[in-house]
Amino acid sequence: MSKPLIMHMITTAKNLSPFDVNMAYDAGWDKCVPYTDIETDEVEGLVQDAIFSRPPGINKTGIFVGGRDPHKAIEMLNICKKSLVPPFTLSGFADPSGAFTTAAGMIAKVEDALKTKFDKKFQGQKVVVFGGTGPVGCIAGILAASAGAEVIIMGRKKEKCEELAKFCKDNYLDPSALISGASNDEFDSQIKEIDVVLASGAAGIQLVSEEQLKIATNLKVAADVNAVPPSGVAGLDAMQDCKELSSSVSGAVGIGALAIGQVKYQAQSKLLKKMASAEKPVFLDFHDALELAREYVSSK
Ligand SMILES: NC(=O)c1ccc[n+]([C@@H]2O[C@H](COP(=O)([O-])OP(=O)(O)OC[C@H]3O[C@@H](n4cnc5c(N)ncnc54)[C@H](OP(=O)(O)O)[C@@H]3O)[C@@H](O)[C@H]2O)c1
Repeated sequence: MSKPLIMHMITTAKNLSPFDVNMAYDAGWDKCVPYTDIETDEVEGLVQDAIFSRPPGINKTGIFVGGRDPHKAIEMLNICKKSLVPPFTLSGFADPSGAFTTAAGMIAKVEDALKTKFDKKFQGQKVVVFGGTGPVGCIAGILAASAGAEVIIMGRKKEKCEELAKFCKDNYLDPSALISGASNDEFDSQIKEIDVVLASGAAGIQLVSEEQLKIATNLKVAADVNAVPPSGVAGLDAMQDCKELSSSVSGAVGIGALAIGQVKYQAQSKLLKKMASAEKPVFLDFHDALELAREYVSSK
């Protein structure tokens, strides 16, 4: 009898995200088992319990790491990898709060807009990430900085943004990467130099006003992942897909939450299928999410 694909889904939170459970079943996993309120020091035990009960070499077992904290999720994914006892194996994938695939979807869409509409790459672009202290914004900032952009993580408290920018640089980026932190109030003083806005604030919060779009003379692309009205960028419809923003003085294009959500969905589905079909163990994070998001966007 062929063995079922079993996904052990761990989270630091009280509940798993039903979105992730649906996605795993729809991608072909046969059984999805939740483990909630999980601490980092419990991960090794769970992984080893999972691997020793299945024949060596068979890779039909997966661990999905959810939760809210992207840094803890990366730590847990690394523990999963280190806890394997070859030839007993499994595969892992982290997507806490959907942040890895959502940020990847946003970056792949913006990259495509820069290329097709402005013949530019992220390299050398000045990028503001509103809501940059949240899981989605933080990962979007890391991916944009990895692609060569000069990134400013923005939020309501300057010190929190500066600390996070330093943490991201120390833990995920090259020492030469350009990433800093600033408060939302500092946007106006820099507005004329900004090429890209990544709006990843909490649901239903507008962070860029119509007045600001009228004076952002260099803006090329504004992307927003908030699907709950009002949008994070004034006048940016959730369905908008690389069409000009009506209030933009510079002819900037807007990419709305549902256009990004479509890429996020595809990337997450492809990552779950990749885990299910890989012949050797794979451990997938936001870099893999970006690769598959780019692949999907360029196939359109
Ligand atoms: N399209 C999709 O597929 C998809 C998938 C997942 C999530 N999302 C959306 O992506 C967005 C980001 O998700 P997330 O989980 O990273 O968000 P989050 O943690 O809820 O919020 C992100 C940041 O927004 C800022 N913020 C919170 N309340 C605010 C307020 N009242 N005024 C101004 N700023 C405020 C906070 O930064 P400071 O405290 O530093 O200011 C916070 O760190 C959300 O809108 C979420 O709904 C979309």
